[in-house]
Amino acid sequence: MTFNHKKDGFKKPGFNTSAIHGNEDKKPANSLNSPIFMTSTFTFDNLIKAEDAFSFASDDYVYTRGNNPNLREFERKMSILEEGKDSVAFSTGMAAISTVLFSLLNAGDKLIAHQVLYGSTYKLIASILKGYGIETEFVDLKDTDNLKKALCDNTKVIYLETPANPTLELIDIAAVAEIAREKGVKVVVDNTFATPFFQKPLSLGADIVVHSATKYLSGHGDVLGGVAVSKDEEYIHNLKFGYMTEFGGVLSPFNAWLILRGLKTLGLRMEKHQENARRIVEFLLQHDKVEKVYYPELNDISGFREQMTGYGAIISFELKADLIKSRIFVDKLKLIKLAVSLGDVETLIEYPFYMTHRNYPEDLLYKLGLSKKLLRLSVGLEDVCDIIEDLEQALEYV
Ligand SMILES: Cc1ncc(COP(=O)(O)O)c(C=O)c1O
Repeated sequence: MTFNHKKDGFKKPGFNTSAIHGNEDKKPANSLNSPIFMTSTFTFDNLIKAEDAFSFASDDYVYTRGNNPNLREFERKMSILEEGKDSVAFSTGMAAISTVLFSLLNAGDKLIAHQVLYGSTYKLIASILKGYGIETEFVDLKDTDNLKKALCDNTKVIYLETPANPTLELIDIAAVAEIAREKGVKVVVDNTFATPFFQKPLSLGADIVVHSATKYLSGHGDVLGGVAVSKDEEYIHNLKFGYMTEFGGVLSPFNAWLILRGLKTLGLRMEKHQENARRIVEFLLQHDKVEKVYYPELNDISGFREQMTGYGAIISFELKADLIKSRIFVDKLKLIKLAVSLGDVETLIEYPFYMTHRNYPEDLLYKLGLSKKLLRLSVGLEDVCDIIEDLEQALEYV
């Protein structure tokens, strides 16, 4: 028995149903879940079958660096959840981002990016791509006039995260996409923070969505993965067989299986992550030792209610204290762990200045409002009163 809403005459299923059943195939031995295809290569009955697979005349698998049933299942599920047509799975979020950008840009082309990005993405764009002769400009994409000014005849790609890591600024995807479309420029959106549960960039006009599947998609801090999704099937085919297989940043079948397991509870987890986060934002806002709180809901302007159905669970904040006392606060946390990464069931805290964003020049970090004291909290799924109790006891030392 497999569920196919179109064939079975059902209405379009909701997010959770799609995350659990989307694009179901009959499984070997009637198992409920797919087995893990831990195989590097696939065999052929004869050369004709091999030739058909190599020339894409058949969908037969060839070699796991190109394709594998677990990867295909993950890719098809992500296409449904992001409302795209097809996807490519990668070994990490950075493999997805770098491969997508190398597939879209050549020497002499220009890339415009939002000025606040995850640190490794910033380094990739600011220094690695530049080294390959690609012109790069960082602007504040919150104001689309900045985008219009930066656009040139050689601009090929606009790249952004919304909410941005770690300032949680929001960018109007539809407005950026409209300007880009007129000029034939591709828009790439990193949807790691919002996930397709809260935001679907492709439906807002973006061309490609990328994710670190290491974060909420898998959700349990036990796997690395990435994915790129698009409505353009031809582009995805070329990304996979023209770039991913050659660069080699392929996802392992075991990790695809783990991410698929995580995806089944993505909606449930995101709701609870957000519920906890909103309670913590309230707590931080009323606390007299907290100076600033950054959370997308606090910068919301009416338009974003259409772009996002929720705000996620990353909060950045600064204490009313000097750097020494701010550091003591983090040292005193017990339940909340000092670690990079986010989107896990465990609540994690980090200093972007010293950790995730140290690839940025220091003066630029200050200009963007990322001081040494800024803390980024990834709110987990513990009971929120326990997270707050931990914050409260550590704040006593400030
Ligand atoms: C917004 C964002 N995009 C991409 C990445 C890179 O993901 P990965 O570590 O899976 O390569 C990260 C990692 O923290 C991130 O925060």
